[in-house]
Amino acid sequence: MTASSMEELVSLCKRRGFIFQSNDIYGGIKGLYDYGPMGVELKNNLKQAWWKSMVYERDDIEGLDASILSAPVVLQQSGHEDTFTDPLVDCKNCKSRWRADQLSNNTCPECKSEDLTDPRPFNLMFKTAIGPVDDGSSFAYLRPETCQQIFTNFKNITDSTSRVVPFGIAQIGKAFRNEITPRNFIFRVREFEQMELEFFVKPGSDDEWHQYWVEKRIEWWESQGVSKKNLHSIDVEKSELSHYSKATVDIMYEFPHGKEELEGIANRTDFDLGSHTKNQKDFDITSVVKKNEHSTTKLGVQNLEEKTSYIPYVIEPSAGVDRGLLAILNEAYTLENLENGNTRTVLKLKPHLSPIKAAVIPLKKNNEQIVAKAKVIKNELQNLGMGRVILENSGNIGKNYRRHDEIGTPICITVDFETLDDDSVTVRDRDSMNQERVSSTELNQFYQKYFH
Ligand code: GAP
Repeated sequence: MTASSMEELVSLCKRRGFIFQSNDIYGGIKGLYDYGPMGVELKNNLKQAWWKSMVYERDDIEGLDASILSAPVVLQQSGHEDTFTDPLVDCKNCKSRWRADQLSNNTCPECKSEDLTDPRPFNLMFKTAIGPVDDGSSFAYLRPETCQQIFTNFKNITDSTSRVVPFGIAQIGKAFRNEITPRNFIFRVREFEQMELEFFVKPGSDDEWHQYWVEKRIEWWESQGVSKKNLHSIDVEKSELSHYSKATVDIMYEFPHGKEELEGIANRTDFDLGSHTKNQKDFDITSVVKKNEHSTTKLGVQNLEEKTSYIPYVIEPSAGVDRGLLAILNEAYTLENLENGNTRTVLKLKPHLSPIKAAVIPLKKNNEQIVAKAKVIKNELQNLGMGRVILENSGNIGKNYRRHDEIGTPICITVDFETLDDDSVTVRDRDSMNQERVSSTELNQFYQKYFH
């Protein structure tokens, strides 16, 4: 089941501490959101799942965590200074500003006037001053995509790890875009996170690797609980391709507001390493790159058989963390009609993504023995390292179940008077709502099974 509207998700996210409007108490800023106590856990779990599948479970990918502030030359060479623009129009009547490609019938969405200016390119990158003098002479860009520092670190990584192609470099981190019309909650925002892999391959094997990564990435989204029927892959039209791409497949998801891009998988050819390399003439670069007079480093690799060097091609699966989180929340959101006529909201998240892995609830908040036993159980489960376990010693049991259903906690463990006699606890399963008695000695094993 999915949410019937974005409003349902927005409301749950605020009510249960997943996501808040940023700068809320001062009226907020459009396109910026803060992740609350539940949101930060869910987001970390999603990023961890991606990292695990890319870096830990494979033997051909290394990780990186590079700086956000980027030297202008990096984004000149990458083509972003020239081409990372949206076409903007101004409404001459109400003075509002819009993205030309998002208008219907060339009409101002605000006042319905058709008296608009011609489109002008507007660069989406944020700038900030570096150093104490803000006179424009020394500035940096806030990176608009995380991958450029993967390319600039290519030689550092091959030198320090002895990697040879095919191999990849993975990075998760913030990216910034001055979106003109941020909208649809966390779908299109100005500050977001990306999970990007740059997978370097021999030219000629690129089409095969591209196909490979499209399949892998769809499988991965499914393993995070996104249903196949809501995922679609589309080949991006040639005329719509980014300046660096030979071919891009977009993984689209049926978001509550419509079918839109969740992840893009691009064949970036030798464009990026070719643009950032020193001595471009020494290589047979196939893409059209900007002349580079600044780079200090050659970014080619050896072809040992032919004793030549070449610039690898790169396949890039680039996923948005925030869009992924929105898709996962939407998939997990379930409204159930209960036999007693009530309804319950439950987030049927995959347990490895759940913000809280288990809630330990002492039935009597003022009984020292019960509370002490609950604390012992909480600490033991916490030490198993599966994620956050919470001691829930406020509110009544019904309210606790309701809250934990809504935040997607897989199990609630109640410690009661019987526990003091026979050392067993009641475990309630989120999805089935079944309750069973489990002995304390078997609890660790019982709990761990949820995550395998
Ligand atoms: N390095 C390639 C790249 O950045 P992109 O298609 O512009 O490609 C990749 O972005 C992914 O980043 C998108 O599929 C989307 O999930 C996410 N993304 C891009 N812009 C975003 C925005 N304004 N808000 C939230 N997520 C965004």
